[in-house]
Amino acid sequence: MADGKKAEGENLPALIRVLRGERLDPPPIWIMRQAGRYLPEYRELRTRAKSFMDFCYSPALATEAVMQPLRRFPLDAAILFSDILVVPDALGRKVWFVEGEGPRLNPLLEEQGWRFDDPEKAIQRLAPVYETVERIKSNLQPGVALIGFAGAPWTVATYMLQGRGGDKDEARRAVYERPHEVDALLDVLVETTAQHLNAQVKAGADCLQIFESWAEGLPPLVFQRVVIQPTRKLVDRLRALGVTVPIIGFPRGAGAQIDAYINETGVDALGVDTQTTADYAFEVAPDGMALQGNLDPQTLVVGGEVLERAARDVMIAFKSAPHIFNLGHGITPQATPENVELLVRTVKAGL
Ligand code: CP3
Repeated sequence: MADGKKAEGENLPALIRVLRGERLDPPPIWIMRQAGRYLPEYRELRTRAKSFMDFCYSPALATEAVMQPLRRFPLDAAILFSDILVVPDALGRKVWFVEGEGPRLNPLLEEQGWRFDDPEKAIQRLAPVYETVERIKSNLQPGVALIGFAGAPWTVATYMLQGRGGDKDEARRAVYERPHEVDALLDVLVETTAQHLNAQVKAGADCLQIFESWAEGLPPLVFQRVVIQPTRKLVDRLRALGVTVPIIGFPRGAGAQIDAYINETGVDALGVDTQTTADYAFEVAPDGMALQGNLDPQTLVVGGEVLERAARDVMIAFKSAPHIFNLGHGITPQATPENVELLVRTVKAGL
């Protein structure tokens, strides 16, 4: 029995074994935003679609973008190429990108009587994303895990409320000024995101990551209301839909509220951001919870010994936990493929 279980475990991708609580040396590695503009072949591919959203909705282009970093580096996971903002786009809140500036939507805060299309309709519109997941799955080597993802309700809501990134003061003010509307918006996002992630798992995703990129700067009661409760509802809804794969939560900037986040939302693993110490993460995480992180993405711009030392420091800091090597936030366009190669080589050499 025990042997059978072990044999089964050994066939699983390393990333999934660690998510289930195993410690591996060397740790599995993937890189947040591993497909993207730091790769010349991505920049070339990107010119083949008129807009970034068109690119995301093209299964052929999106699948190719996923495969590009895997051809260069022996990474342990692929992540779906898409964006957290396809969810509002599919709910009828059109998203476009301004060159050199970032995403734009018509801000909800300038409107009264917020209306969204039905979650079911949104999911139908996102069919090309699920086709992309199927295509990636059929291209992957065994042993390479496929990660599906979505933005967390609050992070996606901040873009919908303000119509853009930047500081999140207006979105936070809306929690006080228009609480019922914000709660209703978060509920729509919980349901749509649950169905979106469920569809990715059905299409072949082996685990999921929820990006709460804007967890910073929230007072505890607001954090409970807009981060913890909606994430808890999302995880519960996923489990009710029959999703059993591991879920990684990445509450960037949550600081001391990481404790409440990992103990109250129901996520299985923690994405640790750049500012958080491994010791703090161990202290607050339940025993055996996988921790993912947290190399500073800037070291991938610098390279050389600075990068090697920083990568080893991360491995040492997390050596007593089930650890997935990753960055503390997304790779920047200024990073070089040569530095990513050095990083992967350094991590694969182990401690
Ligand atoms: O390999 C991968 O991980 C790529 C898939 C991916 C993208 N976006 C593609 C993308 C993922 C996982 C995301 C997540 C995402 N998108 C987040 C959460 C992660 C984080 O960094 O906090 C957020 C906040 C977004 C919203 C978003 N999309 C912004 C703010 C921007 C502009 C940022 C910038 O650097 O210009 C995007 C655009 C975007 N999403 C790009 C890519 C490759 C760059 C646009 C392009 O290639 O034309």
